[in-house]
Amino acid sequence: MKQIIVRPELHKFDTCKEFVQEFALGEKDLVLTNEYIYQPYFGEMGLSVHTIFQEKYGAGEPTDVMVDAIIADAAKTGYDRVVAIGGGTVIDIAKVLAVSDGGPVDGLYANVAGLEKKHPLIILPTTCGTGSEVTNLSIINRTRIGTKMGLASEQMFADHAVLVPELLGSLPFGVFATSSIDALVHAVESSLSPKATPFTKLFGYKAIEMIIRGYQRIVKEGRECLGGLMGDFLTASTFAGLAFGTAGCAAVHALSYPLGGTYHVAHGESNYAMFTGVLKNYMEIRQGGEIAVMNDYLAGLLDCSAGEVYEELEKLLNQLLPKKALREYGVTQEDIGVFTEAVMNTQGRLMANNFVPLDAARVRKIYEELY
Ligand SMILES: [Fe+2]
Repeated sequence: MKQIIVRPELHKFDTCKEFVQEFALGEKDLVLTNEYIYQPYFGEMGLSVHTIFQEKYGAGEPTDVMVDAIIADAAKTGYDRVVAIGGGTVIDIAKVLAVSDGGPVDGLYANVAGLEKKHPLIILPTTCGTGSEVTNLSIINRTRIGTKMGLASEQMFADHAVLVPELLGSLPFGVFATSSIDALVHAVESSLSPKATPFTKLFGYKAIEMIIRGYQRIVKEGRECLGGLMGDFLTASTFAGLAFGTAGCAAVHALSYPLGGTYHVAHGESNYAMFTGVLKNYMEIRQGGEIAVMNDYLAGLLDCSAGEVYEELEKLLNQLLPKKALREYGVTQEDIGVFTEAVMNTQGRLMANNFVPLDAARVRKIYEELY
């Protein structure tokens, strides 16, 4: 059984300047990023790199249309290395660029086994959530078939994952909240996965501790302390990425994709909408095993009994990001049937990692309860 995959070489620098010098960025490099990140942190360095600013191709999470347009423009630059500096959207697109032959992304989905790395890939995350810098997975909203789907290949791992806490200096609080909750969900789902190992759990449980302790400090001391905690949150997010990169995510992510894709809810927020609802249903089916270990661990961190952990966790998370009912996002009763079908038909990759199997009736029940 696979214990843990750590493919990219991991680096950490205090400043962007140190990164640029160490990696000798130059004219053969294509930097895929956002202008609001590039200008303040790299603009004055006068680099000879090619730049593509992702937001010029559309807002929000990556779609097939957006990725195809970026692939076409990237091909005109004659780039060698791909340097991704950004959040989940930028990183996911960069992984596709690394294996792209210049054609549409649909062709890559159709030939996953035959993908080959065409360009070295360097990833610098600018949020503290996706963990995507250490995984080989890219999530794209396939608007042509109406759902978000993961594209994963050994060839899509970065060669280098580079942590620069300076880049998170101007992260808006809302993005911090949704991205760090995503990391927490990665850590919890991967630790409950049947594919979890002592190695993935070492990173997963440590990430949970660092994130919850960080939240408790923010609640106690106010948002001003966030700057000093960013390095910890960035590390925790990478820990969670290492955990789910091997053990996988599960139903929380699977159920959140139809909500995020249909109503354009940020990934971390749509996960939060499903998070405790899924855990409570696991508990209805099975109370022993890893979920008992998890609940005891959370009880220790939250200073409550194991029976109160989901309520206490929600109380803590609500102080960063208020949880909403599905209907508040515009979800209708009819959507519940459509979402359930989408989960059962297209999210098998994630649903295979559930703590206990969840059938269509159970998925529908979870949506109903959260409605
Ligand atoms: Fe996620």
